[in-house]
Amino acid sequence: MTQDELKALVGQAALAHVVPGSIVGVGTGSTVNKFIDALAGIRDRIAGAVSSSQQSTARLEAHGIRVFDGNEVEHLPVYVDGADEIDHRGFMIKGGGAALTREKIVADLADRFVCIADASKLVGTLGAFALPVEIIASAQAQITRRFAALGGQATLRAGVLTDNGHPLLDVRGLSITDPLGLETEINQWPGVVSVGIFARHKARVCLLGTADGVRTLE
Ligand code: A5P
Repeated sequence: MTQDELKALVGQAALAHVVPGSIVGVGTGSTVNKFIDALAGIRDRIAGAVSSSQQSTARLEAHGIRVFDGNEVEHLPVYVDGADEIDHRGFMIKGGGAALTREKIVADLADRFVCIADASKLVGTLGAFALPVEIIASAQAQITRRFAALGGQATLRAGVLTDNGHPLLDVRGLSITDPLGLETEINQWPGVVSVGIFARHKARVCLLGTADGVRTLE
């Protein structure tokens, strides 16, 4: 199976986690695009979606799925999103598609994070994928120095601003053995909008696409 087929497989499998009649939290990325396409098939059985990016909003609306603003919603039963890396505990690195801040906001509304990913995303320790961090531009140099003190090399993602209009750093060289501790620490640095470690908002279930079919990690 190709990687694209594996993504389609888990996108379809995630439908089993959608609560009928509810508003669904929808992430961002190529795997989520497959989920959105699958969701279109049951659009009459859901109330709509809260989206984490302009990209996902456009795709949802093109399928005739109503998109609610997060401010209109008090809670969501389920949030479905991909990951750049996920470990066996459900801790993730996210933000490869630059949507990490809104992804965390929507994930925070949800009771349950359902991660969908092809098997290549499963790792023993997070950190081989460069850690995305959305920042306030004037804090770039001091945040870069803080990462250097932790052994990380931060570089600006050239030519990219988030949907919120902020730049992103990608940090290489970190071995993230304590995702919760590192997320908490980085969140406290002035100028950090959000860090792509999802430990407080970890996946409750992960549907992994493998050559043998969907493997569920809980
Ligand atoms: C978007 O900012 C990311 O968090 C995505 O969820 C992540 O990059 C996974 O994307 P793919 O499904 O395209 O690999």
